[in-house]
Amino acid sequence: MKELTFSIVKPDAVAAGNTGNILQMILDAGLKIKAMKMIHMTKKQAEGFYAVHKERPFFGELVEFMTSGPCVVSVLEGDDAIRQYRDLMGPTNSSEAPKGTIRGEYGTDIQNNACHGSDGPDTAKTEVAYFFNRLEMVG
Ligand code: CMP
Repeated sequence: MKELTFSIVKPDAVAAGNTGNILQMILDAGLKIKAMKMIHMTKKQAEGFYAVHKERPFFGELVEFMTSGPCVVSVLEGDDAIRQYRDLMGPTNSSEAPKGTIRGEYGTDIQNNACHGSDGPDTAKTEVAYFFNRLEMVG
């Protein structure tokens, strides 16, 4: 069944010049890009996006990281897109991510992990709506 998921190419990957390679991996996996833009998140935007983590010890550093430079946010579509993109990203901790996954190729550690993808259908809906409106989506 066709499904949407939300993706971020994070500031570490953009700064390292890996945006193109990561987008190519996404396309090669058969996922379709429905919407995309480059943004530099404000502190408020990052805090709101990651609000679910606000009690976690890494929250402050995460917000600092996500506002450290531009990132590329996108909406991906495909069969089982949420699961498919999570498999393509690999585990959160880049040092545990196998070669051939985005984090295995371009991530550094548990925080600087190159990309984000929604973890379920409800989150995907919320995350897509956080950065995109319907007019920004093709098809
Ligand atoms: P992401 O998939 O975007 O979800 C939350 C982010 O918090 C995660 O990727 C990492 O960038 C960051 N993070 C930093 N430390 C941790 C941690 N200990 N556990 C999970 N996420 C972490």
